[in-house]
Parts: sequence; C-alpha cells; structure tokens
Amino acid sequence: MDNRPVEPHIFVIFGATGDLMQRSLLPALLNLAGRGHIRRESIILGTARSAQYNDVSFRKLAYESFAKAGISLDPGMTKWCDECLFYQSIGDEKLEDFSALSERIKALERELNSTGNRVFYLALPPIAFPSTIERLGEVGLSRSPGWTRLVVEKPFGRDLESARALNQLIHRNFDESQIYRIDHYLGKETVQNLLVFRFANPIFESLWNRDRIHSVQITVAEELGIGKRAGYYDRAGALRDMVQNHLTQLLTLVAMEVPVAFDSDSIRFEKIKVLRAIAPIMDDQVVLGQYGRGSANGKEIPGYLEEPGVPDDSRTETFVAMQIDIANWRWHGVPFYVRTGKRLPERITQIIINFKRAPVSIFDPTGRCDMHFNSLNMMLQPDEGFDLCFEMKALGEPLKLQTQRLHFRYAEAFAPLPDAYETLLLDIITGDQTLFVHANEVEESWRLYAPVIEQKLPIHTYRAGTWGPQEAEKLIKREGHVWANS
Ligand code: BG6
Repeated sequence: MDNRPVEPHIFVIFGATGDLMQRSLLPALLNLAGRGHIRRESIILGTARSAQYNDVSFRKLAYESFAKAGISLDPGMTKWCDECLFYQSIGDEKLEDFSALSERIKALERELNSTGNRVFYLALPPIAFPSTIERLGEVGLSRSPGWTRLVVEKPFGRDLESARALNQLIHRNFDESQIYRIDHYLGKETVQNLLVFRFANPIFESLWNRDRIHSVQITVAEELGIGKRAGYYDRAGALRDMVQNHLTQLLTLVAMEVPVAFDSDSIRFEKIKVLRAIAPIMDDQVVLGQYGRGSANGKEIPGYLEEPGVPDDSRTETFVAMQIDIANWRWHGVPFYVRTGKRLPERITQIIINFKRAPVSIFDPTGRCDMHFNSLNMMLQPDEGFDLCFEMKALGEPLKLQTQRLHFRYAEAFAPLPDAYETLLLDIITGDQTLFVHANEVEESWRLYAPVIEQKLPIHTYRAGTWGPQEAEKLIKREGHVWANS
C-alpha cells in the first residue's frame, strides 16, 4: 500500500461527460478512494459544456460508467459517490461561465472546510486546451490559497511551434512545477520497471552500451483499428498519436544515463539529454503505412478509408517504422528500430535488446551452425514479463545449437498490475512529477518528428491483420536485421 499523505483537495475534471472520464478516470478515482487514497474531505467536480447534467444526473452517469467497466459498488462506495461527486456546466466557456465555476469551487471548499488545494484536469480535445487554460488564468483559478495543479492530456501540440505556443500560454498562467503532462505509458508498472531493471541490476547495466548491444527494437502493436475516433485520429496519425509520445518515452527510458537520484528533475533531465542526442531522422529511415482491407480470425476487416468518418482521400498514417540513431558515446552505431501500427496481427508492446554475437563461431567455422543473438525481450503488455534468450547445445549429435529462454512473468509473481491511470492520478494528488513529461521534453521530441511529418513521405498500404507494409521489412533488412514478431 502506498502511504504517501494525500491532502484534502478538489479535483476538477474538464470533459467530465467524455469517453476518457468514463472509461479511465472515474474507475481509477473510485479505486483510489476504495483503497483509502482519496480522503472523505476531497471532492471531484466534473465539468463540461452540457447543461443537461446536475450533481444527481452526473452521479447517475458515473454509476453507468462503473457498470460498463464491470465494477460493482458496495454501499460504502455508493455513499462516497453521493457525497463526493459534483457537476457544474461551463456552458459556452465564456468568462462568466468560468466565474460561475470559480464561485462553485469556492462554495464547495467552504462547505467542506477545505484549504483550497485544487487539481484541474483537461480531459478535453487538444483544440480546447488553450481557451480553457486562458480562462482559468482570467478568473484567477491558476492560483489558490493551497496548491494548484494543471493536468494536460496528450497530444501536446501538433508540431514544435504549437507545442511551444501551448507551453508559453501555460507558463503565463502556471509555473512548470504545477504542470502534469500525461503520457499514460509512464504510469504502466512495466514501463516504470525499466528504470529499476536497468539501475538496480548492475549485471545488465554493464552490458548496456555500444560495445555489447547490437540493436534495439521497440514495438507497440495494436490489433484494433481506430474505432469511433476518426475525428481525432485522422488529424493526428500514428506519428503524433503514438510515436511522439509513448514510443519516445520508452526509447528515452531504455537509452538514458543513470540519473543522479530517483527524482523527477534528475530523471527528466537525463531523458531530455537522450532526445537532444538523437540525430536528425532521414527520409530513408522512415516507413509510413495505412491499413487496407484485410482479415483476422477469419473475419473481414475494413480498410482505414472505409472506417466511419475517414475522408476517402485521407493520407493519414496508421503505421510507422523508423530507425533512430543516438549520437552519443553510449549508443553511437546502435540502431534503435521503433514500430507501431493499428490493425496488426496482435496487441503487444515489447522492447527487444539484441546483444552482439560472438565474433567467431568455434562450433562451425563455415558459419553453417547459426548462432542467434543473445537477447533480452521485455514484454510490457499484455503478457507482462521478460525473457532472456541464450544458446544451448541441443541434445544428441551432430552438434546443434538451440535458443532457450529464461523466463519471468508478472502474473506468476505479483497480484494484478495496477491501472496506469490509478498510478498517475495518485502521483498528481500527492505532487510527484516524476512520471510526467517536462516542457523541454515535449519540445525536444517535436524537434525530431516535426520535420518527418512535414516531409509528406509516401504512405504504403498494408493488409489489415499483417505486420505492416513490406517496406518496413526492407528498412530493417538493410543492416541485416529482422523484426521480432513476438
Ligand atoms: C492512446 C492512443 O494514447 O494510446 C490510442 O491515443 C492507442 O490510439 C492507445 O490505442 C494505446 O494505449 P494502450 O495502453 O492500450 O497501449
């Protein structure tokens, strides 16, 4: 049990009738309350444009969300919902709507005798971030008698310029120490474990460099398509939706130097150094794809252009494969291959570290006796754990090598893993920024990818249910590699 002290506070969620709130935030808040992390004096104030809700109907909406998520409430939790969930409409988001919100917050704080600690969580489409932040500043909600924290969902900007503009706007109203830019991958237990794995186990750390590592592969594959999210996704694409944030976070955690301490400033500083060392990404290091019609498990799957809401001539990429080179002493010459896509054969997030082969095979000087890489396969989801692969003598004669795996699975060692949002929400209310993205980190990552986006590279079609376009295989084959497809 996490015993960090949680001070009473008011947790204001913009976009409280939306999908993220219902699917992720409400269940996570409920679980935190159930585990005693959210104090009785703390309240959750949902806010959205809709005037159709009030406190009572908002609670009803919350009960429906819990039912959809398969959560059954005991009487204690029902009481918590009735006492702690509130709703306030922000109508057309005019100044007077925000003044009314401010009055409601203060009234609730007076009722609860609260000290004025506030979280503002923007669970909104990115287009609404700037006006909401500005309004919060205008009505004086960016400062309070207690602490105030602003949580911003991804994607943070569309390119370097818009990310900078958003950072500047935020910094006019809030201090960086108040900002929590969310990347939910950082809340995943297996992602956090990357730091422990690397920095608590010197046996690996001493091999973690260009002398011993041949190449690194990072794959975030999704079986699903875009669902009902065409409005958002078609403007974003896989580079903005997944690579600029989730995959880049994984890459920096694998590649960073040892931080001087396990605290937010030291860790974020080292991650920024990795981003700054990445060499400009050339056109021939990137493959973009879009899924066409295909099949999986015997079922026909529509192509991206056939998904509801996607324009017929959309050039949005649903697949990216990329080679990234980190030009520093630790990694020079070690290619990092990253890959993500929708409608791939399975859902899997994995990092594979391929160690260098023995320089000479004494088992068969002709090279016919193939030696594989020793590799460390870190499965971040869904079958969380890792495998260390090494060569053994197969039984019998003639001499043959066989790859075997040392194997660890979270499910065999621990209780079910906590949800990423639970971890991140608890960090927000306890004021720990370690798992959140710093302003400089976002800008450095846009500096890398914005030129790639501007290039308008060709989009290769791949059949839904396959591992992406052939060009992705060619990209990695150039240097004699192959993707490890699970
Ligand atoms: C979100 C993206 O940030 O991450 C989605 O917007 C994607 O497109 C999702 O499906 C993947 O998250 P997870 O946790 O299911 O791997």
